[in-house]
Amino acid sequence: MTDTIKVGIWGLGRAGLNMHAAELGLYPEQFELHSGIDIDPARNQILVEKYGAKAYTNEDAFLNDPEVELISIATRSPDHVAHCERALSAGKYVFLEKPIGLSYTDGLKILALSQQYPGKLYPRQNRRFEAPFNHIKEIMASGILGDVYEIKLCRHSFQRRSDWQTIVECGGGQLNNWGPHIIDHALQFLDYKVAEIWSDLKKVAALGNAEDHIKIVLKGESGRVIDMEISGGAALPQNEYTLFGTRGALTCQGADIHLKYIDPDQEFQKTEAFAGTPSLDGGVSNAYADLEPVKWVEEHIKVAPQKPTQIHSIWPALYDSVRNNAKFPVSIEQAVAVLKVTDQVKKNTSFS
Ligand SMILES: NC(=O)c1ccc[n+]([C@@H]2O[C@H](COP(=O)([O-])OP(=O)(O)OC[C@H]3O[C@@H](n4cnc5c(N)ncnc54)[C@H](O)[C@@H]3O)[C@@H](O)[C@H]2O)c1
Repeated sequence: MTDTIKVGIWGLGRAGLNMHAAELGLYPEQFELHSGIDIDPARNQILVEKYGAKAYTNEDAFLNDPEVELISIATRSPDHVAHCERALSAGKYVFLEKPIGLSYTDGLKILALSQQYPGKLYPRQNRRFEAPFNHIKEIMASGILGDVYEIKLCRHSFQRRSDWQTIVECGGGQLNNWGPHIIDHALQFLDYKVAEIWSDLKKVAALGNAEDHIKIVLKGESGRVIDMEISGGAALPQNEYTLFGTRGALTCQGADIHLKYIDPDQEFQKTEAFAGTPSLDGGVSNAYADLEPVKWVEEHIKVAPQKPTQIHSIWPALYDSVRNNAKFPVSIEQAVAVLKVTDQVKKNTSFS
């Protein structure tokens, strides 16, 4: 098909090869993996042999290949701003991996670049397309949980890592690694209206000098609290999502959602509290007073949002924006807002 977007991947590591290259193969009518470049010749070799694409060793030649329309940047995080600027100035569309930069100042540079090159720059906040995230938003919108006043987001593992992602000077640490995904979710849940931030960073199991256990609590202007825990030092993973609402709760782990909510048809009689003494079995049978029993509904369902998405669904969204001028679901301003939170966390928190 003539209208495919020819892609060059800059950086052929876990993200560049295992995700970008592999995912492009899922959308052959929209994208063609044209070429790539890595400083490691062995990785260039994989690109040629496994994906049949062209490997470059010279950055200028790669960036100036007239056949390449879009550069997908998957180099190390500290290089993202500079590589983005070079790819844009070579006239290419740019798909930029998270984190788009390492600081809010970097974020403002990216914002300025997006204004200098309108419609050319797209942040790869691919977990915005995670099926559980989208299904949970649909459940919240249905109202069955009432007013969701607290959300806990966890990504737990125990990893004795020793690569660059554990070293501060290399842009490592969970704040730059998983932080952009989970903070992005949190800001979505708060409609970007943050009133307060509390945070704590620790180093638990990773071997470098960067944090691998993060706790961030955001309180929204609405009063909703988002409690985030990203950890490479938690041996017993907890649910990825826990929601508490005024009419129910939800947990989600992997593909499983557990819901418990008050029957939507149940309306409680208006009853005033009184300063009386509860019955002796108080609490056992909801009998602190003579209130009607709660009619609970409990369900175990599989994650299946009405509009099915997976994290690689960001590619067709990208295509639609580049080719059909559709609004990209992740704005630059939203990606920059993530860095604003990250900066605040770094300022607030020292760790050892
Ligand atoms: N969105 C996601 O789901 C996701 C997942 C993993 C990683 N990432 C992001 O992708 C980026 C890369 O992470 P990774 O885990 O793939 O790291 P990695 O170390 O596995 O890969 C980086 C690759 O870039 C190459 N490289 C470094 N400097 C280069 C240069 N100047 N020119 C060409 N190649 C160069 C390295 O040799 C390596 O192959 C990070 O910023 C990370 O945050 C995103």
